[in-house]
Amino acid sequence: MTTVLRNVPEMARWSAETRRLDLALGFVPTMGALHAGHFSLLERARRENDRVVVSLFVNPTQYDDPADLEEYPRTFEADMEMIESAGVDTVLFPKYKDLYPDDYRFRVTESPFSEELEGGAREGHFDGVLTVVLKLLNIVRPTRAYFGEKDWQQYVLVRDMAAAFFLETEIVACPVIREGDGLAMSSRNVHLTPEERRLAPEFHRILTGGENPEILRRRLKERGFDVDYVERRENRMLGAVRIGKVRLIDNVGI
Ligand code: PAJ
Repeated sequence: MTTVLRNVPEMARWSAETRRLDLALGFVPTMGALHAGHFSLLERARRENDRVVVSLFVNPTQYDDPADLEEYPRTFEADMEMIESAGVDTVLFPKYKDLYPDDYRFRVTESPFSEELEGGAREGHFDGVLTVVLKLLNIVRPTRAYFGEKDWQQYVLVRDMAAAFFLETEIVACPVIREGDGLAMSSRNVHLTPEERRLAPEFHRILTGGENPEILRRRLKERGFDVDYVERRENRMLGAVRIGKVRLIDNVGI
């Protein structure tokens, strides 16, 4: 049976009890609209810890576009089914006021990496992400927190923030889960028209096809994508494209 906690003090009490019992606590932060990508994080957290918490919170401070926030799918019932089937112990389902008693007066800002790639396209995005993740980590105080490499830049920023602020939580990276044709699973994929959905896997196919970002960018354009960026960082090739109204991101190891 999964318990739903809707406020911060209840969550903090449950977490304190977990620590008192000396149990390992795994945490998976999400915005809901769960799919197989999220499920893989829940399963991994379940395998590696005694107790598992997942948070469901569509975080408004990481959106610069109100329409994008408005359109975000909210599927609480279906999410709960998946969460139960993954054997999660506790769901944190807070309201804006619970997480932002300060109404976002205080925030975490990183520079310069958060201004590049995704941050270049979405102003203030990573301030919102890092701030909410720091709040959640302070409330839940997990042994381990799980992040998908689907959002590789987010993972790197969270990992580096945890080190910078001496957080005790271990930040764990999980591989990208894909559809059979290679398209990275995302809650945005439901917005693709059937024709766009047929084109979408070409993004991943082309991204894996070489080590020169210039060439990959040209190939994507020729194939009909509107390219935001293709760039190489550390040992990864990262890209963002638009098909019609939908913006897709992906990255692959090289
Ligand atoms: P959300 O988009 O719901 O994603 C929650 C977690 O699931 C993230 O760590 C994300 O990288 C991971 N994920 C999504 N799709 C995946 C896929 N196809 N394969 C593997 N992992 C995948 O990311 C957020 O929420 C928010 O920014 C959040 C961290 C919760 C802060 O608000």
